[in-house]
Amino acid sequence: MAKFHPIEVKDIYKDTDDCSVVAFNIPEDLKNVFKFKPGQYLTLRETVNDEDIRRSYSLCSSPLDNEWKVAVKQIPEGKFSTFVNETLKKGDVLQVMKPMGRFGTAISETPKNYIVFTAGSGITPILSMLKTHLEMEPNSTFKLFYLNRTVKSIIFKEEIEQLRNQYFGRIELFYFLTKEHRDVELFNGRFTTEKLEIIFNKLVDVSSLDECFLCGPEEMIFLVKDELIKAGMPSENIHFELFVTGLSKENIKKTKATEISEKDNFEITIIDGGKEFHFGMPKGDGSILDAALGAGADLPFACKGGVCSTCKCRVVEGEVIMKVNYALDEKEVAQQFVLSCQAVPVTKKVIVDFDV
Ligand code: FES
Repeated sequence: MAKFHPIEVKDIYKDTDDCSVVAFNIPEDLKNVFKFKPGQYLTLRETVNDEDIRRSYSLCSSPLDNEWKVAVKQIPEGKFSTFVNETLKKGDVLQVMKPMGRFGTAISETPKNYIVFTAGSGITPILSMLKTHLEMEPNSTFKLFYLNRTVKSIIFKEEIEQLRNQYFGRIELFYFLTKEHRDVELFNGRFTTEKLEIIFNKLVDVSSLDECFLCGPEEMIFLVKDELIKAGMPSENIHFELFVTGLSKENIKKTKATEISEKDNFEITIIDGGKEFHFGMPKGDGSILDAALGAGADLPFACKGGVCSTCKCRVVEGEVIMKVNYALDEKEVAQQFVLSCQAVPVTKKVIVDFDV
């Protein structure tokens, strides 16, 4: 099971008014464990107002820089993002899990043409990809479509523009704004079917593109993905990472320890760290993860939204269904891997293994 390590905050600074960049001081003996690929994220953990909170944030630095940085955008009423933006300071220690996730693609030996659609803090893993792929793939190009509220709120604007100068002619940048007017109508407001049709018919030759990266909210991702497929891009070349802006009300309810009723219907066994942990859980749509946490287990999780895969485990006996799954591919599902935060038991006895 992936575990948390105490890691010192090396530096913290604002990139925009409501977005802090946090750099971590990874000790020499952990540098190997913390090796990462562009597109991966860190899971951070801290007790805020007596509540144990975890959140995942994509690394925005490049592995080539020997730096570990994340950007945390403050979301209204977001407990963790408010803590980072208002309280966290240089020298503080946070619990941090090693980099995880598989958004992104391998470094290519031949030049590739990438296209990116992102919004707000969805730029974080993209920045890491830009820095890494542009440096390692001498003739690759990027077209970046980036949605924000206003010019002032564009995260990493300066860094991206520096990269555009440094890798001259290899990044095309298209800012879309929702709260400020731009002269070209296309660039005003969110991505829509109509705008995407214009982009894929007039602005971009889709047949010349090799891979696409999408990072942002769910509706943006699926809209762009569908339009790109319609325009002829094979779906296996479209990679995406969902950014959830905190837990929904529904999920907050579920994070509260599940009461174990006297009429338990399911017998669950968790294998973790070579040990078995048994508990019962009532019928309903509660997840195995929540029930296990409620029964006192200490298991890895971060988003509780079926997105990050931190809670992945394997069903070794019995059956479960997943409410949503944005993280596991078909192969993993066929191998009985599940997201425990989304797994609801359907057979009386279920055994899941976190040691895989
Ligand atoms: S905790 Fe993120 S997918 Fe389960």
